[in-house]
Amino acid sequence: MRIAVFAGDGIGPEVTGEAVRVIEKLGLPDLELVEGDVGGAAYRKHGHPLPEATLDIARSADAILFGAVGDFDLDHLERHLRPEQAVLGLRKELGLFANLRPARVFKGLEGLTSLRPEVAQEIDLLIVRELNGDVYFGEKGMRTLEDGRRQGWDMMSYAEDEVRRIAHAGFKAAMTRGKKLCSVDKANVLETSQLWRDVVIEVSKDYPEVELTHMYVDNAAMQLVKNPGQFDVVVTGNLFGDILSDQASMCVGSIGLLASASLAEGSFGLYEPIHGSAPDIAGKGLANPMATILSAAMMLRHSFGLEAEAVRIEDAVAAALAEGVKGGDLGGSAGTVEIGDAVLAHL
Ligand code: NAD
Ligand code: IPM
Ligand code: MN
Repeated sequence: MRIAVFAGDGIGPEVTGEAVRVIEKLGLPDLELVEGDVGGAAYRKHGHPLPEATLDIARSADAILFGAVGDFDLDHLERHLRPEQAVLGLRKELGLFANLRPARVFKGLEGLTSLRPEVAQEIDLLIVRELNGDVYFGEKGMRTLEDGRRQGWDMMSYAEDEVRRIAHAGFKAAMTRGKKLCSVDKANVLETSQLWRDVVIEVSKDYPEVELTHMYVDNAAMQLVKNPGQFDVVVTGNLFGDILSDQASMCVGSIGLLASASLAEGSFGLYEPIHGSAPDIAGKGLANPMATILSAAMMLRHSFGLEAEAVRIEDAVAAALAEGVKGGDLGGSAGTVEIGDAVLAHL
């Protein structure tokens, strides 16, 4: 079990530190942790957010535990040198095209979300976000038009094979859950989305047991707060999935709770909280590490087939929350290490 640990910037080292303590506590045989530099931290040390040495570590590992990247002081850099390129580069280089972002309400948190408790308590959904395409990876640029106005542009596109493989990921996930798949797009306006919808319908023929619906992304944003209990699996593109998953996090309590798995074909994956480097609270011991701890659980499940150990971690997080151990993001006062301690105590 060779796990690359890429802590990154801001609260990244704080939250991965707690997740590592949790993994180590399990006493797994053959566990090997290898650290690597990513993001602004890597840029400051090596002049690049995703150094070749880090990519080598990633390729030699069975899975990656990732913290967060992002550093407002480096936002002036050319885009290819910005911290965020580390996570984008890893996703692309390693073919991590399927991003699973589950959201459910933990017992005791029903009254702490941004929704009314009776609405929130119904939530148990999974966002399957495409991660290798869309407007994120199209050509982009800044230019000056003939009349002197500056223009920024980004090319949005999906090829049918890219849609087909994420559609399969969505249907397969639905088969293991409630057998409902909602494909979210903007096919009323975007050609990218029309192709998306056409291909998802084609792929649905392979999954007759799954009930497929389609929803425009603006309506999906509304439905997510109106009646989130209607969703089982949501499959969507890179940009819409990014936005809807941050929104889903507040529907279940906090962005400090949402874990994710970024998967390639096979067992390899990168596991990270959906949140960023949170510069506003970095270095203060205030970050909630639960999203990262839950990401480690997803890693044990998906990359190592250790279902029982994954459930142990998830149960320990649930138990810590149930006894009232909450970070500031949930209106509590527990710090990062205190939350880690509580989870460890329940393991
Ligand atoms: P953010 O997710 O870092 O923070 C948004 C808000 O949520 C902040 O108020 C923050 O304090 C809070 N928050 C986030 N995680 C928390 C946690 N674990 N516990 C408690 N509170 C938490 O988003 P942002 O402020 O828009 O971005 C900050 C930087 O992070 C930017 O540079 C951005 O590009 C980067 N970013 C990186 C990733 C990633 O590495 N995958 C993801 C999102 C944003
Ligand atoms: C996320 C982040 C990233 C994304 C950024 C940092 C590139 O917001 O992982 O959700 O947009 O995918
Ligand atoms: Mn995001």
